[in-house]
Parts: sequence; C-alpha cells; structure tokens
Amino acid sequence: MISPSIMCADFGNIREQLATMKEHGIVYLHVDIMDGTFVPNYTLGTDFCRFLKRESDIPLDIHLMITEPEKKISWFDFQPGEFVSVHHESTKNWRQALQLVRDAGAKPLAAINPPTPVSVLEDVIDLIDGVLVMTVNPGFGGQRFIEHSVNKTARLKEMIRTKGLDTLIEVDGGVNLETGKRLLEAGADVLVAGSFVFSSPDPIQTIKELKEM
Ligand code: DX5
Ligand code: ZN
Repeated sequence: MISPSIMCADFGNIREQLATMKEHGIVYLHVDIMDGTFVPNYTLGTDFCRFLKRESDIPLDIHLMITEPEKKISWFDFQPGEFVSVHHESTKNWRQALQLVRDAGAKPLAAINPPTPVSVLEDVIDLIDGVLVMTVNPGFGGQRFIEHSVNKTARLKEMIRTKGLDTLIEVDGGVNLETGKRLLEAGADVLVAGSFVFSSPDPIQTIKELKEM
C-alpha cells in the first residue's frame, strides 16, 4: 500500500489531486501534524484534517508529531478506519495515548524515530494495529533515507512473526523506487511517499510505479 504524504502536495489544486488519487485506488492519505516543539517545523493541523474529510472519503493516515499527544487526541475527530500514529519519543504516557486513539474509534500505530530501538515496542505491541518506522528524522520532507532502517524493519518483522501477530509495518521518509523496494523486501506493508511522488512531473504515474513494485 502507498500512503502519499499530502504535506508535499501542491495545495493550489488539491481538490483535483484528491479526486485523481481516489480514482487510482489510493487507500490512505498520510497527513503530517507538526507542532514546532516535538519537531522543528509546523505543518498541518486539525482544520486541514477536517477539510480533507469534507473533500474526500480516502481514509486518513494521521502522523502526530506533537508533544503530550494524550492531551490532544480529543482535538481531532478521528474516524473508524483511520490510522493515527503516536511517537514513543513524544510522551511519557505512550500506552495511554495509543489507547485513547483506539477509544476514539481509530487504529493506533506506534511510531519510532530512527535512533529508537524496536525493543520499546514490547510495551505496546498488544494494543496497536501497526508500527510507523521513521526512516528519516521527522520534521521535513525530502530528506535522505537512513540506511539502517532496512535492517530495523527486518528485525521488527521478525519480532511480529515470532509473536504470531499481524501488526502492520509502515515506513516513512526518503522512500523512492529503490529504497521502497528494499523496505518491502524487509517486510514493510505501507510505504509513505512525499517528495518522490509530488516533486515528480506526474505524481499519479509515480504512485503507480510504486504500487507496481
Ligand atoms: C517527515 C514526514 C514525512 C514526509 C515524508 O517528518 O513524517 O511523512 O512527508 O517526505 P519524503 O517522502 O519526502 O521523505
Ligand atoms: Zn509522516
């Protein structure tokens, strides 16, 4: 599955792009929420999520890069079928925040930054639908892929297999045809793709190429 990262899209013709993505079978839209504190940047927020839901019925894949997410889950109107990622590094109450996502009706994903080991997932793996493995340090689109992410994804896949679970693995950052292929081979299920798609001359064609890998 491909989850195009909407922060990298051309907002000048966003309605058309949403319609075209729907036509071409895109099943998730990755929405980056940044608060200027957890990461050194601001991006999209609650109003933009509402706008996307009004304009399109493609389920959102909301990536929360915010401090104390457990206090802010209620600001969002999460819907059944949506993914919501909460970072390990953003809260002392990771389980609680993930549980609040579940209670709000959405599917919780546990997000980990590049330096964070997969072992921290032991504490939450029983209550999540998936893991978001950051393959760049969060904050900006267009960064260089961090190589050790491939091994990390493979180790996580092994952990999930050993436990007999069907937890999804999503990867985010620096995904293109080459890194995407290696991540899929390592066990990734969902590829987030931002600048590789939206800076290409034909974003829909690029999405197709990623899907056909
Ligand atoms: C980075 C964001 C990503 C970003 C990916 O902090 O979480 O979702 O949009 O962009 P690319 O694919 O350009 O690395
Ligand atoms: Zn993201």
